[in-house]
Amino acid sequence: MLNLPAVASWFARRMRFLLVGSVIVLVPLLLAVLAPARQSVPPPAADPPPYSAVRLPENYRETFIHYATVERRDRITRDIYISPDALAGYRLNRPLPDGTVVVIEGYYAQTDADGQPLRDDDGHFVRGEPLEMVHVAEKRTNWSPGDFVGVARSGNWNFGSFQYDTGAYFDEIMSRCFDCHNSTDNTDFLYTFADVTRFAQTGTVHFTYCDLSGRSPC
Ligand code: HEC
Repeated sequence: MLNLPAVASWFARRMRFLLVGSVIVLVPLLLAVLAPARQSVPPPAADPPPYSAVRLPENYRETFIHYATVERRDRITRDIYISPDALAGYRLNRPLPDGTVVVIEGYYAQTDADGQPLRDDDGHFVRGEPLEMVHVAEKRTNWSPGDFVGVARSGNWNFGSFQYDTGAYFDEIMSRCFDCHNSTDNTDFLYTFADVTRFAQTGTVHFTYCDLSGRSPC
């Protein structure tokens, strides 16, 4: 006679075996099928533009105000310019006004026959060949996320880099601008904020000698 409970229990065991077995076989199979597909799907991050929305101001050497020059151990001298409206709107030790644009360009010092830098009557480097890029910082409250190359931010500032010769975009890793300038968040993200103050008070260009090379903050 058919032992119904025994048959049911055998059947249940069989089903459980099949179920567990198919999970063991199917899950890795499914993952293997999905894995290549997952890799080929682009990351969900927003599509950043190749360059920021900052523009190189035209004729800044004529229309902007040269407020500071930094000379360095590696015989590079950098002139720094600020938009005139920013200076007009400057308030002592207050952050610079919305719309401020600051430009920094560099030159290698000319050298004598011994390779020593030539100096003018005031002891400053005589400018030779320009560095290939010009850096620009622009402050605005109405930037859109698509105006930035990446996710890095420095207050309301955005940065741009341009070829000295043509004014076309200069290709460099823009997050570095933000990373380095963020260490000056107590001076409105500018290294030469004190020079802006000095210029506003005295009207004379401030020269600094920095005994470090490259972009190392002094
Ligand atoms: C490793 C640090 C570092 C990086 C990276 C850097 N800067 Fe600077 N930047 C400085 C320092 C320091 C000064 C002050 C001038 C000097 O000492 O040469 C300066 C000055 C400036 C100024 C003049 C205003 C100010 O802050 O005094 C602008 C504009 C500027 N940088 C833009 C840029 C842009 C654009 C980039 C990226 C393409 C950039 N910087 C990357 C360190 C850096």
